[in-house]
Amino acid sequence: MPQNLRNFACTLQKDKQRIMIDPATIEKILDTANIVDVIGDFVSLKKRGVNYVGLCPFHDEKTPSFTVSPSKSIYKCFGCGRSGNVVGFIMEYEHLSYPEALRYLAKKYHIEIEEKELTEDEIREQHESESLSTVTEFAKKYFTDSLFNNLEGISIGLSYFRERGFNQETLKTFDIGYCPGKSDDFSKAALKAGYKKEYLIKTGLSMESGSRLRDRFAGRVIFPIHSLSGRVLGFGGRVLKKSEKTAKYVNSPESPLYHKSKIVYGIYQARRSILSSDKCYLVEGYTDVLSLHQNGIENVVASSGTSLTQDQIRLIMRFTRNITILYDGDPAGISASLRGIDLILEQGLNVKVLLLPEGEDPDSFSRNHSPSELKNYLEKNEEDFIHFKTQLLAEEAKTDPIKQARMIQSIVGSIAVIPDNITRSVYLKECSNLLNVKEDTLYFEINKIRRKHSEKKYRTFRHREEDFNPPVPKQQPAIKETDQGEEYEKQLIRLLLLYGSSKSITIKTKPRQETVPVAEYILRELKDDELELDHPVFRKIYEEYVRLHEQNRNVDIKHFVNHADINISSLVISLIYEPYQISKIWSRHDNHLETEEMKLSQIIPKTILSFKRRKIEKILQKTSEELKEAQAKEDKEKENFLTEKFMALNDLKKKISLAIGPRTIQP
Ligand code: CTP
Ligand code: MN
Repeated sequence: MPQNLRNFACTLQKDKQRIMIDPATIEKILDTANIVDVIGDFVSLKKRGVNYVGLCPFHDEKTPSFTVSPSKSIYKCFGCGRSGNVVGFIMEYEHLSYPEALRYLAKKYHIEIEEKELTEDEIREQHESESLSTVTEFAKKYFTDSLFNNLEGISIGLSYFRERGFNQETLKTFDIGYCPGKSDDFSKAALKAGYKKEYLIKTGLSMESGSRLRDRFAGRVIFPIHSLSGRVLGFGGRVLKKSEKTAKYVNSPESPLYHKSKIVYGIYQARRSILSSDKCYLVEGYTDVLSLHQNGIENVVASSGTSLTQDQIRLIMRFTRNITILYDGDPAGISASLRGIDLILEQGLNVKVLLLPEGEDPDSFSRNHSPSELKNYLEKNEEDFIHFKTQLLAEEAKTDPIKQARMIQSIVGSIAVIPDNITRSVYLKECSNLLNVKEDTLYFEINKIRRKHSEKKYRTFRHREEDFNPPVPKQQPAIKETDQGEEYEKQLIRLLLLYGSSKSITIKTKPRQETVPVAEYILRELKDDELELDHPVFRKIYEEYVRLHEQNRNVDIKHFVNHADINISSLVISLIYEPYQISKIWSRHDNHLETEEMKLSQIIPKTILSFKRRKIEKILQKTSEELKEAQAKEDKEKENFLTEKFMALNDLKKKISLAIGPRTIQP
């Protein structure tokens, strides 16, 4: 077993004994998990050369700079700098801990993990969001169990769905459940199973009522809302009787786990179909999603409980650029469609609209038609947004010139938000034909709107502090390019990891030459002068390297690429991606091309020297400050000592500079 895996196992054991995954299983998971396949579940990836590229899921971008390397089994975004291995991706993306990410991968590849049961103490120790997630997962199981196995669930919940025509497979696919009608059955069961009241309330599953807990969803059928990776984040619950006075649906409240504006209902079940069909249907309700899915249209999601948000569109955009809005044909549906159109256009996506005959929603329509009729209808009747708007508004405007002008404004307003110039002018032409208005006039109007928008944007930009300070990335910043000291530490670590155990260098030691392995040389040089690295992550890597080296283990870069510490793995991965063959420190004055490997015997000693010189400079600076202090205090003895120290160090620095030679750029 490779060393790094043994290391993983230790980390896991230290991880509060929360979960034990044995090293052989971890090894199996890492061997089996295919990074393109894993990330492909969340990001639409296209092959480019030996790599795959897609839109970065960690920051907002319109052109892909997110790169996945199947051979190296790593990902890296050249836009935001985020990088990592397959486990790291799942951790970052799904906000999972290391063992949880492993568990996710194991599930995906049907690898069995032996987990030990959590004790009550351990449950208490768990991290908050993890606790919320555990409670939510428990609730999901409780609800599905109630629907299928509990007498009340079967007679009330299941029969309701049967009546509506949903089959068992659909109900299972969406983890549909039922919450018993006695007001606290669920809360009692959860408390009994050891879940804390605090988390039951935070997730909104229970509500405090005097000294007792009440079930939020009592007597309702349950629609769990899944994350992209299939974790349950929250729930929607529907009443069963039309006559009841409470709201038809109640939903989980906002919590650290559930942000309703950032997720769309059904994305977990739809994502593969969205990818393969390169299209996503957007509907209004939970049951619309279920119905379409059951009738063969699986690429469907709903923005349940909210009107569509930018975050939700961005989520869909990772899988496709084509969205078709499929809302009810009633006035509410129409105005929701109109709002949706502009939001989607603004993100640079293609939007089509499909209104169902009045009185029908996607659910009733799919129920009353065969799958092939449904498919046919959807294909034939979707309209480009511009036709949709024109028809809709033309009907209203008819001969009223003021209304007509308003209609033109509205359509022009939609075109104006399209970010791409070419697409915009295509629509402009189309609009001019349809409305019989001169292109020039439309062009003028559109530019007026765009100018207004950009002025507004500029003003809010000027006034919003956070626009100047981009959000702090969650990972530690890889490397600050400005600090030359860190630059040398970075080079040192990079050289050590890349060549440490595989290459040797020849160094001149009078009177003869000596050939030593790279690792041997670097470690010796730093140890002799008792030097440490300043950058916390580089230091960690270095110390671990030394430790393994001292145990005579062969350390290679893979050990760090797959490191359990995400800060380490992502930093090392960013080093691999450096355009290092001709490193920028060494090659500025070179005219001919030499690869780094050919020059290790010069490069490595020089890097060490530069690193040392940098250290000396730091001590020099400190000494000169101390000297000033001593002078101020007229402490002659200290002054003399410090002066001597300063001169000696300065001498050393000159010698080192001389040894480095003129080719190095002075820091
Ligand atoms: N909704 C909600 N709260 C409500 C009403 C509606 O959150 N009080 C959301 C739900 O996500 C619902 C969607 O809006 O799915 C659409 O509402 P509606 O058309 O009334 O419900 P349907 O999903 O069509 O449900 P059903 O067919 O069972 O009536
Ligand atoms: Mn409905």
